[in-house]
Amino acid sequence: MTVGTAVLTDLQAVRDLEALRDLCLREFSPAPGEQAVFGEGPAHARLLLIGEAPGKQEAESGRPFVGNAGRLLNKYLQEASIRREEAYLTNVVKIRPPGNRTPRISEVKDALPVLLRQIELVGPRIIVCLGSVAVQAVLDPKAKITEIRGQWQEKDGIRVMPTYHPSAVFRDEDKRDLLKQDLREVGAALR
Ligand code: URA
Repeated sequence: MTVGTAVLTDLQAVRDLEALRDLCLREFSPAPGEQAVFGEGPAHARLLLIGEAPGKQEAESGRPFVGNAGRLLNKYLQEASIRREEAYLTNVVKIRPPGNRTPRISEVKDALPVLLRQIELVGPRIIVCLGSVAVQAVLDPKAKITEIRGQWQEKDGIRVMPTYHPSAVFRDEDKRDLLKQDLREVGAALR
């Protein structure tokens, strides 16, 4: 999808997540056999979790965070006393980048207007940015996750917690502890 003026106008006219999902499914073209992954969760969740892009299992099922990274995320959410069902989960990029590569800057730019409208429609109290693609898309293209992770940021009046992506912590115990610590901080802030 290249976000032309027409689509940007449509985005502002979109009044709810269902209509935004329809627009997203119309505009993004996944590979054959795959689906766009729009996001899921309560329409006005207090917590919004943003990942990078769907992986293989997500693109096959059309749901975010259902593969290995998702299972790890579920575990750490539970440990932080955060119920996944109460959070809204999505990604910056809505279709799987070929070979699961990191999304290109152009792909992030194309997807960003949809994500920003999604944030407005959900209207969360807290956003968790999982990994540097989400951190840079939501907060600042120059932000370095190693410098700001674990420190509350703000975007349009919403508190934002930048932290590691679950895929980045599989083989790194230190990062794993920091991700858990950041989610505990988010859990406490929600209560
Ligand atoms: N990684 C992500 O960033 N998002 C998903 O939905 C799955 C894996």
